[in-house]
Amino acid sequence: MIAPIPADTKHPVKKNPAENLSTNLPQHVAIIMDGNGRWAKSQHLPRIEGHRAGVESIRDTLRACNELGIPYLTLYAFSNENWQRPKDEVSFLMRLLSEYLDQELKELNKNNIRFQVIGRKDMLPAEIQKKIERNVKETVGNKKLVLTLALSYSGRLELVDAVRKIAQKIKDGSLELKDITESTIEENLYTVGLPDPDFLIRTSGEMRISNFLLWQMSYTEIYVTDVLWPDFRKQHFIDAIEAYQKRERRFGRTNLPQ
Ligand code: FPP
Repeated sequence: MIAPIPADTKHPVKKNPAENLSTNLPQHVAIIMDGNGRWAKSQHLPRIEGHRAGVESIRDTLRACNELGIPYLTLYAFSNENWQRPKDEVSFLMRLLSEYLDQELKELNKNNIRFQVIGRKDMLPAEIQKKIERNVKETVGNKKLVLTLALSYSGRLELVDAVRKIAQKIKDGSLELKDITESTIEENLYTVGLPDPDFLIRTSGEMRISNFLLWQMSYTEIYVTDVLWPDFRKQHFIDAIEAYQKRERRFGRTNLPQ
């Protein structure tokens, strides 16, 4: 008989942290990726290097979501207000995005990730719009995770665009005023088809939602970490998920019997 191998107490096998995380997972995680500029400053680098380093954090977060089995991830990558940043920074971000769209397509397909974009896409350079269309089309059948990038995105403009679409339907007679409900709004948002986010993570310690998913975040649990986005790694994501799992979600109700 083979003697059992004694447990190595000095070097215990590290348990896969994902093992304990399989219950009560958020279905949809949204992230405000903040702190790239401060990270670059702390490293005595130009601001743009913070954005470049932030791409690796996106990859790590996607891996974490895929391993945990979280089916929806939405990342705030470029707000409508970000167009007002210095011209050089905007050009760099567009170049980085363009490279990212090329580099990631293979990885998205390899990992069964569907890609989509929300925001005023028509504001983006034509070359980027084409690459977005290509990536959306070529990942449409992927089932494990939906990655949504918010680009040229503003929560208020999303509502403006929804109101315009609804008003047009009233005008052309395909919708009646009395039939407008919450579902009507939802069906006319950029996020149609996505569940509302269960969990919002914001990096770099800022306590704001910055015009992100204003309608959709009515009951989203919010988590703020001081970690700057370029330092954000899988373990930080897991820490956040563990904090989510301790939350009691009441959606405006109490937990007392009626
Ligand atoms: C906020 O940090 C971050 C952004 C405005 C851009 C986010 C972009 C990335 C994470 C990388 C590029 C993304 C893709 C998809 C290629 P900040 O610049 O406001 O930081 P600060 O508040 O410290 O100045």
